[in-house]
Amino acid sequence: MDDGAFAGFSEQARRRLPRLFADYIDGGAHGERTMARNRAAFGQWGIVPRGLRDVSSINLATQCFGRSWALPVFLAPLGFAGMFHAHGEQGAAYAAHKRGVGMGVSTFSIAPMEKVAATGADLMAQIYVFRDRALTRDMLERARACGMDGIILTIDTAITPVRERDMRNGFRHLSRPTATQMAGLLRHPSWLYGQVRGGAMPNVGNIAGYTGSRGVMAQARDVVAQIDAGLDWDDLAWLRATWGGTLVVKGIMHPDDAIRAAEIGADGLIISNHGGRQMDPAPATLDVLPAIAQAVGGRVDIMLDSGIRRGGDVVAALALGARAVSIGRPWAWGLAAGGARGVGLVLDTLAREISDVMALAGLPDIAAVRAAGRNALWRF
Ligand SMILES: Cc1cc2nc3c(=O)[nH]c(=O)nc-3n(C[C@H](O)[C@H](O)[C@H](O)COP(=O)(O)O)c2cc1C
Repeated sequence: MDDGAFAGFSEQARRRLPRLFADYIDGGAHGERTMARNRAAFGQWGIVPRGLRDVSSINLATQCFGRSWALPVFLAPLGFAGMFHAHGEQGAAYAAHKRGVGMGVSTFSIAPMEKVAATGADLMAQIYVFRDRALTRDMLERARACGMDGIILTIDTAITPVRERDMRNGFRHLSRPTATQMAGLLRHPSWLYGQVRGGAMPNVGNIAGYTGSRGVMAQARDVVAQIDAGLDWDDLAWLRATWGGTLVVKGIMHPDDAIRAAEIGADGLIISNHGGRQMDPAPATLDVLPAIAQAVGGRVDIMLDSGIRRGGDVVAALALGARAVSIGRPWAWGLAAGGARGVGLVLDTLAREISDVMALAGLPDIAAVRAAGRNALWRF
């Protein structure tokens, strides 16, 4: 797979992590065709160089979902990130805070959201609507209590599909590691040392209180079983009525769903196919973006994720109607490779490329990119 500007980080992450975690990050559903298509879609758009415009200063400041960020980039919610490096989700949040960008805290965060929030970062809690609504209410209460005024409802995980790499590695049975799995973990002593010293191994801290089970995978299994596959639009309306803050729906891939979510009162949408980890085959997010942007017509802000690996990818997505993008695997690789510093470097790498592309396209700020729209682009 083409890891773009992050190839150095992904290589290091693969060396540092036990195979089972490296594959968990890298893998997708079924034939991983959607994952490949996400990348290929960006390859179909060029950005046309323009000269004789004042680009002596490039401003990447962005407004999205009623928040202000220094870059049009958000750290996507990633489950189990605390397993990738002892700095865990707090390390990523610290890096996001220092760079002035936002971050989503996964339901399956190894660190409880309260600890991640203590970094002072601009966070949104990623939630599911559980069968037991009292658990969802509790998540909302906790998010509010630790100062988060925004939530992200993920809607593309009604079921968890086969991910062949995880099946091969026995990822979902990690609570009782086999001898082969143990040997794999022991072959990565610096990772293991960091985990043991960080004390992160035993719990999915964010949801440990909702399950009587012990061990990361057993706890995750209990809570995955709480994800309500019967969820429908009435439940979104329930959530809208229950949560007074910013509500963003993640996993929108069809214009009709975008319109309906906006009508129910969602404040924002994330066009996402979960980085190719859920539906395979699904279209690339970049391919569905123009029709969705046209359908919502600026009523709600749109973020796009899945396959962003270059600054040019970000500029193309903004020109086609997104207000910002989010990155998943890139920050997982950065974290695994170098903890909080690694996540910071991932953000710096992307910021530098975005800035290069905008300067050479004669687009000094994000408003200029959005105003130029397709006029800045070339369809190959
Ligand atoms: C390791 C990993 C764990 C993830 N866990 C979650 C999660 O707990 N909740 C969620 O809404 N999305 C989750 N996602 C999806 C991301 O939020 C995001 O949509 C996706 O990673 C974007 O694609 P990219 O990795 O190509 O940038 C996860 C993705 C990865 C790679």
